[in-house]
Amino acid sequence: MIGSKYWAKRGMSLDSALLEEQCLSTQMWHHSKASMCCPEKVVVGHLNNLLGYLTEQLSQPCLCGTGVTCIPDWVNKGWSSKYDEKKVSKENVKNETSRTTILFALKNEVGELVKALQIFQEKRINLVHIESRKSKRRASEVEIFVDCSSTKEDFNELIRLLRANANIVSLNPLASKGTEEEEFVGVPWFPRKISELDKSSQRVLMYGSDLDADHPGFKDNEYRKRRKYFVDVAMNYKIGQPIPRVEYTEEEVETWGTVFKELTKLYPTHACQEYLKNFPLLIKHCGYREDNIPQLEDVSAFLKGRSGFVVRPVAGYLSPRDFLAGLAFRVFHCTQYVRHCSDPFYTPEPDTCHELLGHVPLLADPSFAQFSQELGLVSLAATDEDVQKLATCYFFTVEFGLCKQDGQLRAYGAGLLSSIGELKHALSDKAIVKPFEPRTTCTQECLITTFQEAYFLSESFEEAKAKMREFSKSLKRPYCVHYNPYTQSIEMLKDSTVIERVVQDIQSDLDAVCDALSKMNKHLGI
Ligand SMILES: [Fe+2]
Repeated sequence: MIGSKYWAKRGMSLDSALLEEQCLSTQMWHHSKASMCCPEKVVVGHLNNLLGYLTEQLSQPCLCGTGVTCIPDWVNKGWSSKYDEKKVSKENVKNETSRTTILFALKNEVGELVKALQIFQEKRINLVHIESRKSKRRASEVEIFVDCSSTKEDFNELIRLLRANANIVSLNPLASKGTEEEEFVGVPWFPRKISELDKSSQRVLMYGSDLDADHPGFKDNEYRKRRKYFVDVAMNYKIGQPIPRVEYTEEEVETWGTVFKELTKLYPTHACQEYLKNFPLLIKHCGYREDNIPQLEDVSAFLKGRSGFVVRPVAGYLSPRDFLAGLAFRVFHCTQYVRHCSDPFYTPEPDTCHELLGHVPLLADPSFAQFSQELGLVSLAATDEDVQKLATCYFFTVEFGLCKQDGQLRAYGAGLLSSIGELKHALSDKAIVKPFEPRTTCTQECLITTFQEAYFLSESFEEAKAKMREFSKSLKRPYCVHYNPYTQSIEMLKDSTVIERVVQDIQSDLDAVCDALSKMNKHLGI
């Protein structure tokens, strides 16, 4: 599940709030006066001074009009250079500490931040960077972004204590990083092995149980409790394990059934051929029925055999960078919860109806699977700006894409194939349809609360792939990457040894193809 819609809805960046190597203050925390910037390395002793200062400041009215704590220039003077940051990073490695980021929400009341920071002080955790802003989710809260360094043990204890005082929106778990030699300066972290998706999959921008006030299930305590269950399943999942089977309630099955019944009436006239080919197979092998919600484990096994894709449960929205990284490994992050029963035809967020009915049938198609993986591979090592462009291309293809088959407009985007209203609209005379051209499509605004202003048409997945490949050449990446399916890892094509090995693999495949063609020609007498 990609988080672009969610964050775009809130006027925020499409990119992760939690990139390990980057300070996103200019994107995420764009009111510079509202930012609280600490010296590069605020050691515990210095934290005392900061706490004293904050205690004083929090009793004063906000000067910038944002309602968020303002810190004067003298604090900013403590900012150090990237060189110093590297030095800090090296010390951390030596002392077996790691950098991590936490985003937590506090009541916008005097003294709340001081209480939270005291926990960092008590646990002797170094703050590297801290900022605040008004919560986009609740007017009564302030969100605090903290970049800190600590040992894993201290970090776990910190989180335990912090949870008692604050609502942790998201966190980036501690993990060992590659050595400095392995890193290209300025290249954002990305998973190199499939197992590392266990780390990025946990960097949810928002937990599934923490619903907005305008969510249909916000006032339903039973529903919220149920969502917590799905969060736990996803957060405990590790790649390679069987996906836990969910016993869906009668109410959930009924909601699914209502959506299933209405959508399946539209598919014969609105869905693309690839979708229509795979849907009966999902009925046969994965229990796609009006009275049954398919299990992700069955769906994953089916996809593996068809296109090499697998699905894994996810607790909430991921940043576009983390979501696209999963595609690079042919891993699709899927929610397992069902939308609220009060309105089966509306959900403010993707749910299992969207994933299973919208995405899965297309992921079983090898050509579409290749297109999806290539989108993911291009995102690795890409800049934030380019990831944003790729996320928009993803949005107008994988989520809202149209194609033309036998002279008829058909939908292949999951956002359309899981929405009765928009599926009808997109194929009606009222919709504006433009050719998919990544260079222009990536500038189109992704709309959230209304139907899209325009939809983008590809003649075929092969055409869409070719256009994306061409577009990818214009992106700023220090090197290209290659997926090794045998080791399920990403190889960075940045030296001749690796490139030579990849060429040898390709050569072997080409030899086999040439041999096969030669045999066919002989057989045909050509
Ligand atoms: Fe989706």
